[in-house]
Amino acid sequence: MEPVANVITPTNPTGSALTFGGEPSGEVLVDIKNVKKYFPIMGGLLRRHVGTVYAVDDVSLQIMRGETFGLVGESGCGKTTLGRTILRLESPTAGAVSMSGTDVFSLRGKDLKRMRRRMQIIFQDPYGSLNPRMPISDIIGEGLLAQADRENRWGARSVRDQRVGDYLEAVGLRRDYSRRYPHEFSGGQRQRIGIARALALDPEFIVCDEPVSALDVSIQSQILNLLEDLRREFHLTYLFIAHNLSVVQYFSHRVGVMYLGKIVEVADVETIYASARHPYTVALLSAVPDPDPRVRKKRLILKGDVPSPANPPTGCRFHTRCWLREKLGNPADCVASDPPLKDFGGGQFVACHYADKVSTETVLEVAASQSVLEAIEGDAE
Ligand SMILES: Nc1ncnc2c1ncn2[C@@H]1O[C@H](COP(=O)(O)OP(=O)(O)OP(=O)(O)O)[C@@H](O)[C@H]1O
Ligand code: SF4
Ligand SMILES: [Mg+2]
Repeated sequence: MEPVANVITPTNPTGSALTFGGEPSGEVLVDIKNVKKYFPIMGGLLRRHVGTVYAVDDVSLQIMRGETFGLVGESGCGKTTLGRTILRLESPTAGAVSMSGTDVFSLRGKDLKRMRRRMQIIFQDPYGSLNPRMPISDIIGEGLLAQADRENRWGARSVRDQRVGDYLEAVGLRRDYSRRYPHEFSGGQRQRIGIARALALDPEFIVCDEPVSALDVSIQSQILNLLEDLRREFHLTYLFIAHNLSVVQYFSHRVGVMYLGKIVEVADVETIYASARHPYTVALLSAVPDPDPRVRKKRLILKGDVPSPANPPTGCRFHTRCWLREKLGNPADCVASDPPLKDFGGGQFVACHYADKVSTETVLEVAASQSVLEAIEGDAE
């Protein structure tokens, strides 16, 4: 059967053209194998272990040097936890991550410190992530000081200040802004400072955790374009986390879709948008609004809320909300067995027992039978 097409009209919510290029290499930079991160739930007066949040549950991915890998999924599905666990900002429950062949999870002491320089993070909240009591020179300089050695001489104030100024300029700010405090900047400028802070350490890999979602739409494309320019200029590799599939489309080479702690589909960006095969990906794509109100668009409604990651459904975690399962007459294996990621060729991997049943016709049929759907349809004329 043909995979889904046409149902989804990809859009750019920022409304402006984003420029891309700079092909990724064929070299695996970050190799994530069977990573799990569980959080204990403590309860009662004695703070006993009463449950477990399965935030990231057996994720394997390879991120190629020079690429932007977009990671999408609803709130609470484990995107941030996965990013933080890869960077060792959370201690892993299980699995392995290697960076250019070095086992990240087993590093200790000086070796771990050295590795931290190579892997950085840009946070979602440009307000909360900068210490309001520090001037920008110290906010960016702090990390440099922590990583100072004889070779880089970042321990010397003059060397540090020079570098802070250089990186402020690299992100489009004036070097003399280094004397100012965070409250003197707009949201977009603060995000630029956050980017300069990560970049000044000379990383190879950056986790961008929803770096534009807290910004005005008008600023979003500026920051996305900046990140893209910096990726090329500094030969960076990004794990780009987003809710918004539109942002990911214009910004990523490949996309991974997460649901309740698991990766359910991975493919290059064109394949995801033209021929998604996981019922969850198809539903997410159908929810992306079209900026042109005249464009007709079918939307698949997902029933119910996302289940708690402390009590995930058995078998396929998506089965409680899956429109395809319902259409197929609720087959038993959706509830009984967890579908592994299956290779559909061309770099597309899908975790669904019935991915081959997903087609444009199926989606349109299901969409047409859902009564609320037409609410978002505009007038094509
Ligand atoms: N330190 C923690 N202790 C306990 N539970 C946590 C902790 N951090 C995250 N969680 C839980 O793990 C799950 C995944 O959270 P995470 O923040 O990774 O999701 P997310 O996909 O980044 O969501 P969002 O899109 O809202 O940022 C959530 O249920 C969250 O409540
Ligand atoms: S395995 Fe079943 S429940 Fe899971 S996505 Fe596929 S059809 Fe839906
Ligand atoms: Mg998050």
